[in-house]
Amino acid sequence: MTLTTETPLGEPSVVDAEWRPRIVAFLCNWCSYTGADLAGISRIQWDPSVSIVRVMCSGRMDPTFVAKAFSMGADGVIVSGCHPGDCHYQEGNYKTLRRVHLLKRLIQGFGIDPERLRLVWVSASEGDQWAATANEMAAEIRSLGPLRMGS
Ligand code: FES
Repeated sequence: MTLTTETPLGEPSVVDAEWRPRIVAFLCNWCSYTGADLAGISRIQWDPSVSIVRVMCSGRMDPTFVAKAFSMGADGVIVSGCHPGDCHYQEGNYKTLRRVHLLKRLIQGFGIDPERLRLVWVSASEGDQWAATANEMAAEIRSLGPLRMGS
């Protein structure tokens, strides 16, 4: 849509009127972020509703980050790190695996569908895998609808 002097301001466009999920993705610097970067360099597109937060290791992803993302309006959260055995900090992704497993149970206790939190392993050479993950998660969240906390 091109804005002209005749374009009424404040009127939502068709795109603005559609609900678009907000998905926060915590990606480890060494594998998953590089994989997402490779997808970008390779011009593989992924859903724009996914916003990336780079962390040095998926193990750096404090559980409060996920809670904060949901409390600030995220409809879904992706956590992604190096494949098991490939973590640059030895065991960071094994900690992440345990944390996400517990977090899924925790958020379920708060009435949040555990499908809204996803853990995936993406290496630096798996740009297509990253794009597929982002697109699948966006489709999943669209099917679940907006997250309504406290309802
Ligand atoms: Fe990638 Fe630890 S550095 S998961």
